[in-house]
Amino acid sequence: MDNMKFFVTGGAGFIGSNFCDHLLGMGHEVVCFDDLSTGREFFMQDALKDKHFRFIKGDIQKFEEINGALQESKPDWVIHLAANADVRGGLKQPRKDLDVNTIGTWNVLESAKNAGVKKILFSSTSAAYGAPAIFPTPENAPFPEQTSLYGASKAAGEGLVSAYSHGYGMTSIVFRFVSIVGARYTHGHVFDFVKKLKQDPSRLEILGDGELVKSYLHVQDLMRGLWLTIERVEDGLIKDAFSVFNIGNDSSIIIKKSAALIAKRMNVTPDFTYTGGKRGWIGDERVELDTTKLRSLGWQAEHPLEQGILDTVDYLLHHPDLLVRD
Ligand SMILES: NC(=O)c1ccc[n+]([C@@H]2O[C@H](COP(=O)([O-])OP(=O)(O)OC[C@H]3O[C@@H](n4cnc5c(N)ncnc54)[C@H](O)[C@@H]3O)[C@@H](O)[C@H]2O)c1
Repeated sequence: MDNMKFFVTGGAGFIGSNFCDHLLGMGHEVVCFDDLSTGREFFMQDALKDKHFRFIKGDIQKFEEINGALQESKPDWVIHLAANADVRGGLKQPRKDLDVNTIGTWNVLESAKNAGVKKILFSSTSAAYGAPAIFPTPENAPFPEQTSLYGASKAAGEGLVSAYSHGYGMTSIVFRFVSIVGARYTHGHVFDFVKKLKQDPSRLEILGDGELVKSYLHVQDLMRGLWLTIERVEDGLIKDAFSVFNIGNDSSIIIKKSAALIAKRMNVTPDFTYTGGKRGWIGDERVELDTTKLRSLGWQAEHPLEQGILDTVDYLLHHPDLLVRD
């Protein structure tokens, strides 16, 4: 496959910076567009040394900025990862998910269309399934009732990606991720537990009853999954205007078991307390995705779920500055 040019929104974030490195490692050209709101220059330190990498600081909420950057870059692919990924904070800032994840996605799509881009990959989320009734949840699960503004904003984003693809002859891939873990991880359950235990190793308050089922996938397994679908599009094996893939580990773990695993890795023996109720917060749902569709292309997770959690704990302990973030 010839080298291509990728425009990665959110490329300074956890997943985005890993994907930029993945693409650069294969010799592709990468333009990273990020406002550094949650992303970090530190995550791009290797990429910035690569002559095939360019960083543009910009905001997808500002149409002129994203439109100008895409006009100038004219990439083969837009990998749209920029988002407000704070699921829990949604109700405190009810416009934020709409502005960044839905209107921001429209800005990216319209700018991609203006720049003649025909291939888009969009990171959606298992949260777009709301509170599903089927486990493991397949891509064609009944249209979900949304329980978080984040999930709703991503479901709306998926709708826009689909409409642009059909309307303007684009090929798009939408991924619904479970919780991703690994190097540069900066938000989610593992982060919260490590942070709390660093502050007070004697106790750990768990939101909910600790019984909620979650799935975690190692970021390196995610990288291979994203890349596989890009290859299939390039090979002409994925031809549909719009394809949706779940990606996640086939195994799952309940929150209190992952908390125990984390505490053990940190060598602490806290008393666990529970705030009660099935969920930690509204929108905190059971997650188990059916990945048959992606596996049928030849992908499978190589890192056991527990390994992903442990690697993440180790990473955070080696980068305590990351834990300073709220
Ligand atoms: N991490 C997970 O477990 C997970 C799970 C499901 C879906 N996702 C999705 O994957 C994508 C990447 O998530 P992540 O975990 O790397 O989060 P992250 O917060 O580390 O990355 C998001 C990046 O987008 C940038 N960004 C935010 N708002 C922006 C804006 N207005 N303009 C330009 N850049 C902006 C941030 O600075 C950051 O670098 C997101 O779309 C997220 O919704 C993540």
